[in-house]
Amino acid sequence: MTILVTGGAGYIGSHTVVELINSGYDIVIVDNFSNSHPEVIKRLEAITQQSITYYNVDILDKESLRQVFTEHQISAVIHFAAHKAVGESVSNPLKYYHNNVEGTVSLLAVMDEFNVKRIVFSSSATVYGFNNQSPLSEDLPTNEANNPYGYTKIVNEQILTDMTIADPEWSVVLLRYFNPIGAHASGTIGEDPSGIPSNLMPYITQVAVGKLEQVNVFGNDYDTPDGTGVRDYIHVVDLARGHVKAVDQALNESKLAVYNLGTGQGYSVLDLINTFSEVNEIEIPHEITDRRPGDVAVCYADPTKAREELGWVAEKTLADMCQDSWKWQQNNPQGYQAGNMNG
Ligand code: NAD
Ligand code: WQD
Repeated sequence: MTILVTGGAGYIGSHTVVELINSGYDIVIVDNFSNSHPEVIKRLEAITQQSITYYNVDILDKESLRQVFTEHQISAVIHFAAHKAVGESVSNPLKYYHNNVEGTVSLLAVMDEFNVKRIVFSSSATVYGFNNQSPLSEDLPTNEANNPYGYTKIVNEQILTDMTIADPEWSVVLLRYFNPIGAHASGTIGEDPSGIPSNLMPYITQVAVGKLEQVNVFGNDYDTPDGTGVRDYIHVVDLARGHVKAVDQALNESKLAVYNLGTGQGYSVLDLINTFSEVNEIEIPHEITDRRPGDVAVCYADPTKAREELGWVAEKTLADMCQDSWKWQQNNPQGYQAGNMNG
């Protein structure tokens, strides 16, 4: 069975491609490489020992998408392709609504034309906004995001929900990710942000590798055990395996389902920095600075529903995440840009 993976060259998509292939699925990637590097494909071929079918196509380009659906018999789609920089979404909201919302509408229209009605969608814990208390469960209201990026996720969830109402043959799984970090155990694929990272783990690894001087810890006066922000960090390989379970379900049952993919455990910024230092035996210089606007104090999942209905639990520890992120960064100090891996 063939799964179309939009955004399959990206951070989470590439790890999911590996797990799909490990589980016996055939895959086709559609990615316009707007936030990824073609080198990813070579790395995926090395990991999986098979050739990877991919199309350099924008999901907004329906004609090219039709070509992909004509050339392959697609059973289901996992839809990762989106822009994801929260700050940029505030300064340039139209870029986000265009790519992330119109992109989904374009994809769904072509899926409908080809009678492919099974989709797993990359949503985010950001849909829980400011006003819900952790542990966050799927039945909480999700009508208020903190930024335009978050609203694109809320709107996408609504569009996909409406598809199942209009046509019960549609099978939709909405996956709300918490904070993915870590990398494949090979250290050959991982997160490769362009420019200065805005997320904590890539910032830490770039300090560790000497590209940045110190981590700025955004506030230590939150109502949390050590005053710094608490998040539910999840290993990207656990997250990828959650997608395999979700696509299994989407193929077997026609319904709408929504699941948190998180560990259920919250760690602070200082927990992450200290664990990284300990397991990798490397100092991470850091300094407390002002809070970052738009940050919530605490955000972690109630992962019960995914365990009960998908049979999925996150297995990897914070130490695993820190080790694997560091291995990726150490092997690839310039990310994918350098082409061949060092070391
Ligand atoms: P990523 O940027 O690494 O991957 C996204 C991929 O989609 C990139 O390879 C990019 O080139 C591609 N893409 C973007 N727009 C496209 C378009 N119009 N047509 C074709 N390809 C396009 O991001 P990621 O971290 O792997 O995130 C994947 C998905 O998960 C996104 O939808 C993101 O919003 C969501 N998500 C990510 C996180 C996170 O912290 N990384 C958390 C929650 C949700
Ligand atoms: C984690 C913690 C920061 C950087 C974002 C998006 C969310 C989702 C995942 C897509 C917070 C602190 C960070 C730094 C710091 N993405 N921090 N210094 O904000 O939880 O979530 O990525 O859906 O939508 O908002 O992740 O990694 O940016 O921050 O102190 O240099 O680290 O304040 O407490 P966040 P993050």
